[in-house]
This record gives sequence, structure tokens and C-alpha cells, in this order.
Amino acid sequence: MPVFLPSRRHLLKTFGAAAATALSLPALGKERAGIAQEPYLDYPFQLGVASGDPWPDGFVIWTRVAPRPLEPGFGMPKVPVEVSWDVAADESFKTIVAQGTKAAFPELGHAVHVELSGLEPGRDYFYRFTAGGYRSPRGRARTAPAAGAPTDRVRFGVAGCQDYEQGLYTAYRHLSREPLDFVFHYGDYIYEGWANKATYLSRYTNQEEAKPRRLLLPESISLDDYRLRYGHYKSDPDLQAAHAAAPWVTVWDDHEVDNNWVGDLDSRDTPPEVFLLRRVAAAQAYYEHMPLRRSSWPLGSAIQLYRRLSFGDMLDLHVLDTRQYRDEQPCGDDFKAGCADRMRASAQVLGQKQEAWLLDGLAASKARWNGLAQQIMVMTLARTPDAEPLRNMDSWEGYADARRRLVKGVEERKRRNVVVLTGDEHQGYAGEIRRDDRDPTSAPVMTEFVATSISSGGDGGEQRPLTPALLQKNPHVKLINDQRGYLVCDLSRDRWEAEFKVLDQVSRPGGTLSTRAKFAVEPDRPGLNGA
Ligand SMILES: [Fe+2]
Repeated sequence: MPVFLPSRRHLLKTFGAAAATALSLPALGKERAGIAQEPYLDYPFQLGVASGDPWPDGFVIWTRVAPRPLEPGFGMPKVPVEVSWDVAADESFKTIVAQGTKAAFPELGHAVHVELSGLEPGRDYFYRFTAGGYRSPRGRARTAPAAGAPTDRVRFGVAGCQDYEQGLYTAYRHLSREPLDFVFHYGDYIYEGWANKATYLSRYTNQEEAKPRRLLLPESISLDDYRLRYGHYKSDPDLQAAHAAAPWVTVWDDHEVDNNWVGDLDSRDTPPEVFLLRRVAAAQAYYEHMPLRRSSWPLGSAIQLYRRLSFGDMLDLHVLDTRQYRDEQPCGDDFKAGCADRMRASAQVLGQKQEAWLLDGLAASKARWNGLAQQIMVMTLARTPDAEPLRNMDSWEGYADARRRLVKGVEERKRRNVVVLTGDEHQGYAGEIRRDDRDPTSAPVMTEFVATSISSGGDGGEQRPLTPALLQKNPHVKLINDQRGYLVCDLSRDRWEAEFKVLDQVSRPGGTLSTRAKFAVEPDRPGLNGA
């Protein structure tokens, strides 16, 4: 049995402040740090570290104590344990600027979130944790520039959709080497679904298909199901490297809970009050594994994920939740042609409260650029070349009136520098959101960049068979690409540049990264104006 650090209060009472201070352990490597404690069953930081939600005065640092994250119980007794943490101004931790201890509770999967404040704006910091005499890997975070401060440049990554079985996380290894202020993760951090051997049989040959890796997990329903799945995903060293390299701003999409869920409805007609029990588990598991602020603490099935982050006078990033407050998809969801119900009045994607919050925030923004960091495609998109094409009922297109209100709201607030960042599609797209989506000559109101996936969909290729016809059919779309990768956005006062970085393959290690396309948006000229 492991024996854990005595509590700070206990030490203070017994030995005075000096002993309590000694809990902030000396800087040692990943090995035992020399404290006379019984070790954990294994190295307790198997899931790495992360930071998130950078503000000008601080950010969140995260870890989860789980010596055996793939076993029932995760290698932990059901008692609170103490974890100490350090934040330094330098990589070698010579100048510690903040430190402390935090209890990790079994009720929260022994996750630790420390919300830092009082730091300097616009600079790098480094952090680490210690528990039971073991030291965590080191992470790098960065505070945002001071509110409204003149800021020359903001550079960030956009990533998501990381089905563990469909591809390796090579893209994350490359992302970890990018110099970034932060990473926006648009969701599908896990895929919740059930898999057994039959899942891997080809529908054409009935032979087993090669998969880069397999999980063979039951579908995630309970909190421990989700914890186990996050444990597998977060054990990946490439994903851990990307977390350790920069603060992340995360929001969920559907697969953190259930495929294409919206509101209190799942994909298999479970009664809402029953599905909400699953949402309680999924929301807690999401909070436990993400570097989220206390304001995102899950309350039953509800978790506050829409929020705003500001980066000096350069960028206001409006992070949106398009799942939790949405109406049911029209016409039975999926890709459908001629669905009249998608035009229904008062359709909700964000819900009234979030929609008003967004439009008020856009009206009040004084930043050079506004980013809508969200999940589902806002552009309309004919998905077949037919006269009455298939359209995606799970995108904003299935909610034409909500989409119309968004576009009108941006126009009425005279916001001309709004760029939408999207995931979900498992393909990269660049395109223009026009005032009248049926008229290709109408003015662009916003620009949209859809990041592809880290791994979902497997290797892919340059284009799918229908892509050339779809580019013709959708003249507001300038790029469709079916490779895996991520997006890098590089913002300056006179352009928002978006670089689509893609991999040649994710089915084997060593995928090669290249830039597939680069687009630029110019101030006061919505649309794609050049590369
Ligand atoms: Fe996805």
C-alpha cells in the first residue's frame, strides 16, 4: 500500500511552518525526489500535465494522479492525496514564482486543477507537480498579453477529432514543436463508442482491417468508463507533448458524450432523464481531464464551457458550445436532401442565452480580430453535386434561422473582422460565409477555417472522389482537403493568416508534415483575400 504525504495542516500543527514548507520539494528529475514516503504503485504522472485558459495574470495547471490509469481503480486508494506544484519563470526552475499544495480527491478521479493568478502578462512560465516523492514532467504555459495592450502578434494552433484507433498522434508531436501562444481544441477529444473484434471486420471482405491501434473498450456510459477511456488517450506521449508545450483552450463536441447528441437527446432515443445521467458522468470526466477553470466545474449534467479569452488588443476569442443548448437536428439528423424543417423559425444552436452573450461580446469587442472558436460548419455546403444536394443536418445548416441570426447579428454590430474556427468535419476547408448563402455574388460577412482531424478518418488523401465537383458546386469554398493535421493561425494587425498543416500518413509512425495551403484574411475585408 502506498503511504501519502501528510496534510499541510497536520504538518503545521505538529512541526510548524518549516516542515510544511518542506513539502515544496527540491528540484529533482522524474525519479523519486528523496522524500521518506512509500512510493505509489507506479509513477503517478502517467497521464502527463497540461495548462489551459490563459489570462493576462495566470492560467490553469492540471494533472491527474493515476499510477495505473488503465486498470480498475487507476492504482489509487479511495483517499485524498496531496500534490505539490511549482511555477517558475525559467525552464530550469531556478526562479520559482509560485508554489503550493493541493488535495487530489478520489471523487474527482484524483485530478488536480490549480488556477494561478498574480503572474505577469504576455510571458512564458514553466510548471511541474510532485507527489509521493515523484516529480511530473515539466510543462510550459504562457500568459495572455494585458487586456487591451498593444500586441503585435498572436499565434495559435487549432486541433481536435482524435480517434485513438484510427490513427497515430503524429500531428501532436509536430504541433508540440510549433511556437504557439495557445492551442484551441474544438472537441472529439475521445470517441465514446463500443468496439469489439467484429467492429474491425471490413464490410466488403469480412476480413479484419488493419488499425494502427485498438482499444477494445466497452462504450463509455459511467464515470469510470469515461475515466478509463481518457486514461488510454492521455497515455499517448505525442498528445502529452502537445499539452506540455502550450496552454490549451478546450471545448467539447459530441464524442465526449455520445455521437451527435444535442441538449438532452442522444443518438438512440434514450429517454432524456436517463440520457442526462450519462451526461452527468461525461461532464465530470471532461472536467477531470481538461485544464479548465473553476467556472467550468460540472453541476449535474451542466458544464459551463462557453467563455471568452482576450489577447491584448489583437484577439477576442469567443469559445462556443454548440451541443449543450441545441435543438434536435431536423429530419432525423444525418446528411439529407430537401429537408424543409431545417428552415424552421427560432431554431437554436447556441440557445438564447449563449447567443445573446456572443452578440453582446462582439458588439463590445475592441480587439482587431474576433474569433468564433466552435465545432460545426457555419458555411452552407452542398455535399453532393445534385440539383437538390445532400446537406449536413448536424451543422449550422440544419438550423438555418439560427445561422441567419448569427450572420445578421455580426453585420448589425458592424464586426468585419470575424473569423470562424470549426472542427467536426474530418476534412480541412477554407471558405466564406456570405450574407445570402444562395447567392454566390453576395458579400462575405465572415471567413471560416475548418481544421481537419488529428487522426479521425485515418490516412485520407488529397481529395475524396467528389471533391472537384463540390468545389465547383460551392464557389464560396476555396479548399477541401482530406489529410490529417492541424491549423496554425498567425495574427498580426494587417492579416489573419491560416496555415493548413497536413501529414502524409497517420497509420504508421513517422508521418511527414507539410503545408497544404495558406490563406490570409485582411482587416475590414471578410473573405479569403490571398495567401
Ligand atoms: Fe470528430
